[in-house]
Amino acid sequence: MITRPYLSELFSLDGRVAVVTGGSSGIGRSIAGALAHAGASVVTVARREAELAATVDELTADGCRAGWVSADLGTSEGVRAAADEAAAVFGEPDILVNCAGINLRPPMGELGEDVWDTTMAVNLKAPYLLGERFGPGMAERGYGRIIHITSQQAHRAFVNSGAYGVSKGALESLARSQAEAWSPYGVTCNTLVPGFVMTPLNARLSSDPEKVAVLAARTMVKRNGLADDFAGAAVFLASAASAYVTGQSLFIDGGFSVH
Ligand SMILES: NC(=O)c1ccc[n+]([C@@H]2O[C@H](COP(=O)([O-])OP(=O)(O)OC[C@H]3O[C@@H](n4cnc5c(N)ncnc54)[C@H](OP(=O)(O)O)[C@@H]3O)[C@@H](O)[C@H]2O)c1
Repeated sequence: MITRPYLSELFSLDGRVAVVTGGSSGIGRSIAGALAHAGASVVTVARREAELAATVDELTADGCRAGWVSADLGTSEGVRAAADEAAAVFGEPDILVNCAGINLRPPMGELGEDVWDTTMAVNLKAPYLLGERFGPGMAERGYGRIIHITSQQAHRAFVNSGAYGVSKGALESLARSQAEAWSPYGVTCNTLVPGFVMTPLNARLSSDPEKVAVLAARTMVKRNGLADDFAGAAVFLASAASAYVTGQSLFIDGGFSVH
């Protein structure tokens, strides 16, 4: 006899707590909304308070449980404080989504140490520190999901990939190391790999209609990505349904990477 709906058993996040960095804009905002609508209590982390508050207000108006923490993930102290504050909202997280990211794009020969260090701090060190903070607890409790957002630039050079591409390549390696460490204890670690997605991060490129059309033509689906394209994959990777998927990179790119 079926006592619970089939889809809920696979994908429901009821009773789960999620922390989503970069959850106030673009891809992260969409993922935060998806996890919250699937039942998780979601804490979004970013710097700008107005965007965080607007995201959370929208979710609570929909009947979701959500909160926010304002923090700069570009410093180790900022990350540690953010982690403690985030865990204080709904409790220690079962799901960690590392989506906060920056892409500064100076040409390689002009890339100074400042850009290198800032990029690595936000895109790589913050996910590492948050994993160290939350991963062991997830393992102890026997359930966890760590999802990193990387980039096609983890796999190929693309428009001054510079330090950004390096940080994203390393983030995919981090996911595999974390998967090796914690999968035996029920904690899976995977990455979602966007192609070109129309978000504020890409404001300069996406305001050029010719470049936008050329990029869309390179996909198989014949359009560029939208933040909401990540919702379903994020719920899958956060849910019980993905228990046997770990250390993987899932491309959400309309076929861009294989065309
Ligand atoms: N859009 C694309 O085409 C594309 C392609 C490949 C990969 N990605 C990746 O997808 C992720 C999301 O990007 P997006 O396109 O959605 O960009 P976005 O709209 O610019 O969102 C970036 C988010 O990160 C937060 N953030 C940035 N620096 C931070 C810091 N120092 N401390 C705390 N939060 C910080 C931002 O909030 P605050 O500014 O308020 O801090 C914002 O919430 C990034 O990791 C990006 O590298 C995007």
